[in-house]
Amino acid sequence: MTPPESWTTSSGEETEALAARLLGRAPPRDAPCRVVTLSGELGSGKSTFARGALRALGATGAIKSPSYTLLETYELPGVNVVHLDLYRLENPDELENLGLADYHRPGQLWLIEWPENGAGRLPPADEEFRFSIGPDAHRIQRIEVSTALR
Ligand SMILES: Nc1ncnc2c1ncn2[C@@H]1O[C@H](COP(=O)(O)OP(=O)(O)OP(=O)(O)O)[C@@H](O)[C@H]1O
Ligand SMILES: [Mg+2]
Repeated sequence: MTPPESWTTSSGEETEALAARLLGRAPPRDAPCRVVTLSGELGSGKSTFARGALRALGATGAIKSPSYTLLETYELPGVNVVHLDLYRLENPDELENLGLADYHRPGQLWLIEWPENGAGRLPPADEEFRFSIGPDAHRIQRIEVSTALR
């Protein structure tokens, strides 16, 4: 298992740039589905990070918040992305009708905010990003989950 790594960012722009660096390249053809969770307190930068990744992958215009629709999907050059925000989900069973299984396919990237609200109804994460707000900067920690441990 890769040891956790962490970064600090001092602005939304820096958080977007970090996401672009870490998630902003389309995967090789037929790469396995990549499930990425974004956890942490309100306002810690999860949506900012998702926006940075989406823009780097080729999304143009305003990035819509999925907080009411639960999910937004993007067909980008070389990668399809599903962005979920489960903040408003009251029960993981509400995910049953979204047809999420359709998105669990090679080449797909998942970005999931508030994954804890969907516990038991989401595929296992490949990478977890944890966001927190420190006195001088926001902290972003990455934990890669080894396939061997799942
Ligand atoms: N270092 C930083 N990283 C990210 N955002 C920052 C940073 N410093 C200030 N901000 C500001 O804080 C806000 C972060 O909001 P954002 O919507 O990304 O948080 P969130 O974690 O998605 O919150 P929520 O749980 O409410 O969805 C943005 O307005 C952003 O400009
Ligand atoms: Mg958010």
